[in-house]
Amino acid sequence: MLAISPSAQISKLADIEDSVRGTKITIGDGVFIDSFVKLRVAGGMGDVTIGPNCYINAGSVLYSGNGITLGEYVLIAANCTLAPTNHEYRDPDVVIRKQGFAPSRGGIVVEDDVWIGANSVLLDGTRIGRGAIVGAGSVVRGELPAYSISAGNPAKVLKWRKKPA
Ligand SMILES: CC(C)(COP(=O)(O)OP(=O)(O)OC[C@H]1O[C@@H](n2cnc3c(N)ncnc32)[C@H](O)[C@@H]1OP(=O)(O)O)[C@@H](O)C(=O)NCCC(=O)NCCS
Repeated sequence: MLAISPSAQISKLADIEDSVRGTKITIGDGVFIDSFVKLRVAGGMGDVTIGPNCYINAGSVLYSGNGITLGEYVLIAANCTLAPTNHEYRDPDVVIRKQGFAPSRGGIVVEDDVWIGANSVLLDGTRIGRGAIVGAGSVVRGELPAYSISAGNPAKVLKWRKKPA
């Protein structure tokens, strides 16, 4: 099922695949998706939910994998990759492509009002708390707390959002 709100603005140059095998892709009210964004249904049976007023910039790629949930007002800068899936690779006698996919680590969950900097990668099992910021060029796996500002590979907390004194 592919459900796109009538108020979402999706560039004609974006490529949003329809769901397969009963999974759901939902794009909420007021979402903006720029040119050359690719939503690829592959690598698992997860649903993709893009909450209201999210903004996804040019060149970002979202694999459905074990699922992606974006809350509201999530900002994803250019050229980010959301990859909530891993190839199974353990058997060295079988090519990786023929080994299927590794068990789910829970997909990717990004809470409301998160800003992901350009060229970042979110891996399976990522949980980003409300209001957090991820610096440009980060690789995220596991949990980043609400209102933290993190960066690096792997992304680590640098500081916290707070009102200027
Ligand atoms: C994370 C970010 C918001 C922090 O900005 P800031 O609050 O002004 O932070 P500062 O520049 O003072 O940096 C604070 C520290 O974090 C480090 N840092 C900041 N951004 C970093 C990044 N992306 N990767 C690694 N380290 C980073 C700085 O080197 C500095 O370290 P130091 O204290 O040891 O010198 C910003 O650096 C960033 O990455 N912005 C993303 C920009 C982007 O992608 N824009 C796309 C258009 S939406």
